[in-house]
Amino acid sequence: MGSPRVLPADGDLGEAADVLRTGGLVAFPTETVYGLGANALDARAAARIFEAKRRPSFDPLITHLADAADLAPLVGPVSPAVAALAARFWPGPLTLIVDRPERIPPIVTSGLDSMAVRVPDHEHARRLIAAAGVPVAAPSANRFGQLSPTRAEHVVRGLGAAVDVVLDGGPSRCGIESTIVDARGDHPVVLRLGALPVEELEKAIGPVTVRPGSSGQPVAPGTLAAHYAPRTPLRLVHGAESVGADGGAGRGYLAFRDRPAGHWAAVEVLSAAGDLTEAAARLFDALHRLDAVGVTEIVAEPVPDAGVGRAVNDRLRRAAATWHPAP
Ligand code: TXA
Ligand code: MG
Repeated sequence: MGSPRVLPADGDLGEAADVLRTGGLVAFPTETVYGLGANALDARAAARIFEAKRRPSFDPLITHLADAADLAPLVGPVSPAVAALAARFWPGPLTLIVDRPERIPPIVTSGLDSMAVRVPDHEHARRLIAAAGVPVAAPSANRFGQLSPTRAEHVVRGLGAAVDVVLDGGPSRCGIESTIVDARGDHPVVLRLGALPVEELEKAIGPVTVRPGSSGQPVAPGTLAAHYAPRTPLRLVHGAESVGADGGAGRGYLAFRDRPAGHWAAVEVLSAAGDLTEAAARLFDALHRLDAVGVTEIVAEPVPDAGVGRAVNDRLRRAAATWHPAP
């Protein structure tokens, strides 16, 4: 598959910025997950993202800015709620929907008149975007439908030489993607649960609606298929007991805080302290590891459904949606 150049994220970013400016792909760390970046003003560069990820062209990208002050010059006036959310939570794990400006080619937004945009809360991501001097379109740096990357090595393993440069900034702090909110109208809607808890949003702008498709009840089952999925089948259970006495043989178990009883081929505990933020940060890393040890099935239990735990459960349900019981 070949290998990309891996450079330290805390070093000189001049070369990576040049790669972006000249139409190449740079994977970079953010506080949520690693992103696969391209110049958002360059339709051919954006097209390379879809190729590298084998991503369907109808799945729009998020545009990343170095600073909240860069929003107005790019998109012009926004609704009061969008302005309030940007002022309160940027830089941070919140993606906002705005009208797509003329300068952003339609391929970035999959032809939509709207655009998703955020300012990542990561010093080196912001240094990179500022050095490139252009907005940076970046989905998560994984093949479409597979586990999101929270370490540079996940990106190298998943995308190989399809990416030109990978900036290694160590493990992602949040470990789960940004929360996506459409606050253009009178009734803000959460389009994707993510690292910024719904409770925090509501403290800032009052009640928000969580779109059904983003809370685990699929609008159409097909929209969930193969999303955030490990290669190994994943089953969601309420406690290890439900698997039966010898159920652990050959299987891996993903626990929230307590190690399960019985014999399992591999066990990952997300947070022995029962801390949801820690559990979110470790989720994809733990799934990557269980996927790599060669178990026949990953058995996972949900975490408490509050705060960022809702986003963790959302990812687990989506991963489980690809699992089909043997006939
Ligand atoms: O935390 C994150 O958001 C990471 C890091 C790299 O910033 N990025 C990320 O991108 O998760 P991605 O491509 O894996 O997810 C982007 C999702 C799309 O699948 C789509 O659901 C939504 O953002 N999206 C993008 N543009 C949109 C738009 N104009 N309207 C509605 N949803 C949009
Ligand atoms: Mg993704």
